[in-house]
Amino acid sequence: MNRETFHLIGYGALFVLALVLMIMVLGNLLGLAVMVGIGCGIGLLSESIYPSPFNNGRLSATAIGLTGALVGNAIFGKWGPSLAHVYFIPALIGALIVSAILRAKVRYDRLRRIEDLTASAGEEPLAMSMVEQYRLIRFVGAGGFAKVFQGVPDRTLRESDSVAVKVFSDGAMEQADFVARIDREVALCQKLEHPNIVRIYKSAQQNKLRYIIMEFIKGETLRSRLQKGRMDIPEAVNLLIELAEALAHAHSHGVIHRDVKPDNIILTAQGCKVMDFGLARQAGTSDLTQTGSAIGTPHYMPPEQILGEKQLDGRCDQYALGAMGFEILTGEKLFDGDEAIHVVIKHVQDEPRNPREIRPQISEALANCILKMISKDRDDRFPDMDAVVKELKTLKPEAIALARPIGT
Ligand SMILES: Nc1ncnc2c1ncn2[C@@H]1O[C@H](COP(=O)(O)OP(=O)(O)OP(=O)(O)O)[C@@H](O)[C@H]1O
Ligand SMILES: [Mg+2]
Repeated sequence: MNRETFHLIGYGALFVLALVLMIMVLGNLLGLAVMVGIGCGIGLLSESIYPSPFNNGRLSATAIGLTGALVGNAIFGKWGPSLAHVYFIPALIGALIVSAILRAKVRYDRLRRIEDLTASAGEEPLAMSMVEQYRLIRFVGAGGFAKVFQGVPDRTLRESDSVAVKVFSDGAMEQADFVARIDREVALCQKLEHPNIVRIYKSAQQNKLRYIIMEFIKGETLRSRLQKGRMDIPEAVNLLIELAEALAHAHSHGVIHRDVKPDNIILTAQGCKVMDFGLARQAGTSDLTQTGSAIGTPHYMPPEQILGEKQLDGRCDQYALGAMGFEILTGEKLFDGDEAIHVVIKHVQDEPRNPREIRPQISEALANCILKMISKDRDDRFPDMDAVVKELKTLKPEAIALARPIGT
């Protein structure tokens, strides 16, 4: 039993006990109503002024307030105005004293918690600072142009209300048109509502910090999952279907991702979540002389994006999904090399291997589906993501049955 459930049961029992005692002592319902009004009212007021970090904060506040009112009524004597055996002033004093003690404890716990979080936050300069009403309690990771933090509402520090705050670097902000592009993409992404797409709440600026606030996802990135090895074939096909459905939803709202890659996918117990729609930097050929991290990974980039095609469409995401599918199924990158430039040249020039050469259990139809998605010429790919979803779904039963190895 965790601490929260323990508290919940404790406060629930206290509440019931207080009610039973009141009925026994007061013997009338009017008195009960007055007592509940005073005790619970003071309890809820104290909770709203200084909320506790627990989800059951309101229950504990009312239980404690009610107990205080009951005890106050019993021990502070019979004086002042009363109604149905309830003496207002003693009950009020009792509720106030007990609620104040609880608030002092909540405040003490909060300060202790901030100390602990600060100690574990490490050297990251922005950690523990405030962005709007959120305190950035943990540094989650950094990409090429931003740092991501876990933020919690400062009033409660409740982790169940966490958000992710992505703070863009000064370098990113120097790119021409960056802020306008982020705002435009965020406005588009806010229209996306899909179980496999990370929700974006807002994009804003505070002093010199430019950031977006989004749903916080607890899980493992597909990148770290793949470092442990390839997936089972049915698991891989299920994941590809979820990803294709998320991308199809975005495309139907006019949003192209442009940077589909394992770092932008988080796996959770409820399914995958795709993030960073449209936030990729514009990839021009001039960037490609730099190595890996400087331009982001080129392992999933379609030839037309590498060649600087300005009119990208949903088929660029289809190529990236195919390249990822290749890796999820085989455990090997579609094209690899020591330098980013070697990888991009292969995307443009080299014919891909058949995934069945690496893992013969992959069915011919599944391999053909992947190969079609990673066609060099986008006209040779599926016409849109809906077609990919449809194809993958028809393949599913076949993917589950083990296919015959090549040449048998
Ligand atoms: N909403 C979120 N919830 C939880 N973790 C997140 C969220 N958004 C990003 N992250 C994590 O933060 C880290 C940095 O993400 P970020 O998008 O800045 O970089 P990236 O995707 O690795 O690279 P790039 O800069 O090319 O996008 C990643 O490990 C990512 O998994
Ligand atoms: Mg990212």
